[in-house]
Amino acid sequence: MSDHDHDFPKTTVTQFVLALLGGLFAPGLVIFMIIKMVLGIQATHIPDSDAAVAASKVIERIQPVGEVAVADANAGPHVDKPGEQVVKETCSACHGSGALGSPKIGDKGAWGPRITQGYDTLVKHAVAGIRQMPARGGNAELTDTEVAGAVAYMANQGGANFKAPAPKTEAAPAAEPAKK
Ligand code: HEC
Repeated sequence: MSDHDHDFPKTTVTQFVLALLGGLFAPGLVIFMIIKMVLGIQATHIPDSDAAVAASKVIERIQPVGEVAVADANAGPHVDKPGEQVVKETCSACHGSGALGSPKIGDKGAWGPRITQGYDTLVKHAVAGIRQMPARGGNAELTDTEVAGAVAYMANQGGANFKAPAPKTEAAPAAEPAKK
C-alpha cells in the first residue's frame, strides 16, 4: 500500500523536474541580470560621485576652448593666418553680403572709391574701425598683419593690386634658449 503511494506516474515526475528547473533557473537568471544591472550602474556612477574626477571631467569638456588659449599663450610663436582665411572667418560676415553698407567682396563699384584712399588708409580703418565697420572686423584677436592681409585680399577682388605684408611669425623670446 505504502509502496503504491510512492510510485509517481511518469508525467508527474517530468512535470516536477521541469518545475524544479524552471523554479531554480528563472530566478537565477533574474538575479544574474539584477547583479549585472547594479554593476553597470556602479560602473557609470562611481566616477561621477568623486568630486575630483567630476572636476577633471568638466575640465575635459571645456578642453577645446582652453587649448586655444594655451596655444596662443605658450605653445610657441603665433603664426598669422593668410588674408583669405581671415576674410572667410571674420570679414565675410558683413563683406560677403554687403551688410550694414559694407563694400561687398568682388563689387568693383563699391571698392573703387575705397581703394583710391590707398592701402595704408584702408588698413588703418580696418584695424581701428570706421563708422559701422568694427575695429578688426570685431575680432580683437586678429593681428595688424592679419587684418592687412584681409584688406588686401578683399580690395584685390574689388580691382586693387595691393601686396599684403608677409605673415609674421612672432618671435617667442622665452621659448628658444640662447645658443652658445
Ligand atoms: C560687422 C560688419 C563688418 C565686419 C565683420 C567687417 N566689416 Fe569692414 N566694413 C563694414 C562696414 C559697414 C564698412 C563701411 C564703413 C563706412 O565706410 O561707413 C566697412 C568698410 C571696410 C573697409 C573700407 C574702409 C574705408 O576706409 O573705406 C575695409 C578696408 C574693411 N571694411 C575691412 C574689413 C576687414 C579686413 C574685415 C575683417 C577683418 C572687416 N572689414 C569686417 C562692416 C564690417
